[in-house]
Amino acid sequence: MTDHSIEEAKRQAAIRAVEDHFSPEATYVGIGSGTTIIYVVEAIKERSTNPHIRFVPTGYQSRQVIVRAGLTPIAFDSLPEDTMLDVAFDGADEVDEELNCIKGGGACLFQEKLVAERARKFICVADYRKDQPRLLTNWPTIPIEVAPISIYTVLHSLRLLGSPNPQVRDGLLVKAGPLKTDQDFFIIDAPFPSLLTSSDVASGLGAGDGTDGKWQVETLSKEIKLITGVLEVGLFCGMDGVQAEKARNGGLGTGS
Ligand code: 5RP
Repeated sequence: MTDHSIEEAKRQAAIRAVEDHFSPEATYVGIGSGTTIIYVVEAIKERSTNPHIRFVPTGYQSRQVIVRAGLTPIAFDSLPEDTMLDVAFDGADEVDEELNCIKGGGACLFQEKLVAERARKFICVADYRKDQPRLLTNWPTIPIEVAPISIYTVLHSLRLLGSPNPQVRDGLLVKAGPLKTDQDFFIIDAPFPSLLTSSDVASGLGAGDGTDGKWQVETLSKEIKLITGVLEVGLFCGMDGVQAEKARNGGLGTGS
């Protein structure tokens, strides 16, 4: 698969998601992070007819994408308390058959979850590479955003949950040391065996509670969130109205 065809798959998935889920009259739209979202923003720009539309970013990179496209950002904490976003679009690192997602490859998972939960409709745009029967099939780790002071206790707790070798994510080039998120927190990337879906548990593939080393997605997500020092976990599951657009092997299908 060439870089060109991967970019084309991302673009096609983005166009399909916007065609199906963006209303030209929308007023508040959440914009996620990553590279696929750039194509989403392009497609929205072509279709929007509302001069008052505002875009809520999920972090610094996302805001840059909005501004560079000539669109108007509005900070999440400027939204009136009772205002919902019409829709939020975001990318994903991996999506399973029940539309649970791993997110946080770009270290923006906390704000991504804030924005997704504030939207009437959360649309996760993922190309065919990310479409897997279970999470942690191709994507190796769960990103977790953590308060710097708690880093060693969180690493220890993750090992107790069965993560063989959780690692603090390194920063990029400029400065040695851990990567800092938009909240000035750290990211831990925690590997686990691939995660059971709820239908796996229902069909007896495992209890999903970690006792045999196997976790069900939502159960593990809740356990990780209970660790003191964890701000957010990059497992997006059980979100009402979550839908996904997946481009499967060059063809496009609505994943639901
Ligand atoms: C960032 C994310 C991104 O949405 C995810 O990593 C997908 O990125 P890309 O579209 O570049 O594959 O969760 O935290």
